[in-house]
Amino acid sequence: SKVAVLMGGPSAEREVSLVSGRECAAALREAGYQVVEVDCGPDLPARLAEIKPDVCFNALHGRWGEDGCVQGLLEWLRIPYTHSGVLASAMAMDKARAKEIFAAAGLPVLQSVLAKREDVSLGHILPPPYVVKPNNEGSSVGVYIVRAGSNAPRLAETMPERVMVETYAPGRELTCAVMGDRALCVTDIITDGWYDFDAKYKTGGSRHVVPADLPEEITAACLDYALRAHQALGCRGVSRTDFRWDDTRGLDGLILLETNTQPGMTPTSLAPEQAGTLGISFPAFCAWMVEDASC
Ligand code: DAL
Ligand code: MG
Repeated sequence: SKVAVLMGGPSAEREVSLVSGRECAAALREAGYQVVEVDCGPDLPARLAEIKPDVCFNALHGRWGEDGCVQGLLEWLRIPYTHSGVLASAMAMDKARAKEIFAAAGLPVLQSVLAKREDVSLGHILPPPYVVKPNNEGSSVGVYIVRAGSNAPRLAETMPERVMVETYAPGRELTCAVMGDRALCVTDIITDGWYDFDAKYKTGGSRHVVPADLPEEITAACLDYALRAHQALGCRGVSRTDFRWDDTRGLDGLILLETNTQPGMTPTSLAPEQAGTLGISFPAFCAWMVEDASC
């Protein structure tokens, strides 16, 4: 069948998406699909009318591609697409709302507040250390870490009007992907500094221990929380949930940071690596998503 791989787009994660998209397109060709690569712009509806794909493989990240917008267009056009639908995408991308859903499902989340951009520069919204981030972006774009003893941050003009201010949680960075009704495995991400944009995408920017070497109780909790988060949001296909674990505090130190409904599919990305650990090749992983697509 014919698959249009949607990639690029205008979000802050455009470059990441182009890499994800090209990787997925190559893998789908290897799996035997006819593939058309589509860099998404305002002409997307016209392009799709011309291409007439059987399925759209969504390799977009960030605003418009991960937040329910493109999903709504594909529903309207009646083209089956991979990953989550409109509502789950929109809720997951709004970090504050996603947190309310996680808390209602009994999942551990950090204390946070939504604040106006200009108020953040005026004084501390929470006692430092804390983190300021866009409420609706990914890949650590526009994340400020405010350490104890430092002044309130001066936010760039490019930051959105409303930002999330979140307690800083020390600890290890763990992540767990979900594929349908199965949590895959846990990765322990080891970095020199924090897991920022470069650490995420530069070769050698971070080291991944997969499956992570953790107490059984922590591994089990990550798998359980990732699946429950996926289900609480109503996600479909593949998602990836990120955690922070303070290993001095046992299970109480495990916190759910967020669920990504369009997890990275680049060569340094985590979900494909977890699938590989379980013997699911990258082409097989991508093909499973195509077969799971709906609208
Ligand atoms: N936002 C990036 C693509 C991720 O979550 O993997
Ligand atoms: Mg993210």
